[in-house]
Amino acid sequence: MCELYSKQDTLALRRKHIASEANDLALRLARQFRGHQDVITLDHAYHGHLSSLIEISPYKFQKGKDVKKEFVHVAPAPDIYRGKYREDHTDPASAYADEVKKIIDEAHNSGRKIAAFIAESMQSCGGQIIPPAGYFQKVAEYVHGAGGVFIADEVQVGFGRVGTHFWSFQMFGEDFVPDIVTMGKPMGNGHPVACVVTTKEIAEAFSSSGMEYFNTYGGNPVSSAVGLAILDVIENEDLQGNATRVGNYLTKLLNKQKAKHTLIGDIRGVGLFIGIDLVKDHQERTPATAEAQHIIYKMKEKRVLLSADGPHRNVLKIKPPMCFTEENAKFMVDQLDEILTGLEEAVGAKTESVISEDTPCRTKMPEEAHSEPLSDGSPDPKENPSRKRNGLCTDKHSLLSKRLKT
Ligand SMILES: Cc1ncc(COP(=O)(O)O)c(C=O)c1O
Repeated sequence: MCELYSKQDTLALRRKHIASEANDLALRLARQFRGHQDVITLDHAYHGHLSSLIEISPYKFQKGKDVKKEFVHVAPAPDIYRGKYREDHTDPASAYADEVKKIIDEAHNSGRKIAAFIAESMQSCGGQIIPPAGYFQKVAEYVHGAGGVFIADEVQVGFGRVGTHFWSFQMFGEDFVPDIVTMGKPMGNGHPVACVVTTKEIAEAFSSSGMEYFNTYGGNPVSSAVGLAILDVIENEDLQGNATRVGNYLTKLLNKQKAKHTLIGDIRGVGLFIGIDLVKDHQERTPATAEAQHIIYKMKEKRVLLSADGPHRNVLKIKPPMCFTEENAKFMVDQLDEILTGLEEAVGAKTESVISEDTPCRTKMPEEAHSEPLSDGSPDPKENPSRKRNGLCTDKHSLLSKRLKT
């Protein structure tokens, strides 16, 4: 952890029990530091269950009766598969960062001031989203320019899960260091331990306010011992290296599945943080929500626990324990293959995907796919064959959705 802020030669660390407490303190630190109130958060984000965090979690407040508070600003999630700017955009990082800039300008125009921008280094509940390279640097520049701080939520994605780095934000380059980092979940491996790391300057601005941080159990020796033991295991058992090795193997296996199954629209991930975006058709990328629920249910019968997330709940979320082995990965993918094959047979869909195994995950459908014959075997010159095929696919899947709901 100390390496986190070696560049600035400053470190302030506060231990908490649940990650929600860590994010709540991060907000307090940010607001105290600059005296501003407003927070920019990403669409579909989740940052914890306290009132202060539900307010900045569109994942929650958009579903409940709560309305968005006037001091909360929601920026589009930097999702280049199904977001506003996609992989065919010339510079999605700048386009998404400019959306944040626009929010800052609008806030200023209405007399508001930004305290913080908060984001997971890779969005989890939002649908396993990996922001495009350069996005965070640009956002940090705009947010700092507005007098705010950058909070990186590493609660789901920290502690070596990405394999190449211990913290996910480090993947984006050495020129990007958040002002506040929050962590939790894997830090205690089931035991409630969480933490906030920030610069000395921000921590001192908080303590000099006279409102000291107090928490009955903060820094208690049992939780501290648990946290230290976990760091030892991560290091001694090379779990970070394991995330790279097994993650690469798993991604390779999943890409083979993508070549085989039309339901798989995108495989994205780093290390042991992977998402499978299920679609009813590759062109429109219509979310295959009912199919995702069906797969989760069937996987559970086969003793594999998965969840589906993202705004449409169609992204299979793969975030296994860090000790996951290649054998486990193979078992999981074999079960998935079987279920997808069964599903496709049930709807009479083709099991031969139009996307080749070697196609990079975020490319469009190749042209040749457009000349595929229709279900009666003859190409229809009047219509876009791809549309027609996708329509067919959609119809069959909607029938399936009805069946699955019963
Ligand atoms: C990204 C993120 N931040 C914060 C939290 C809050 O963690 P906790 O439930 O431990 O308070 C969660 C919980 O799911 C989370 O996913």
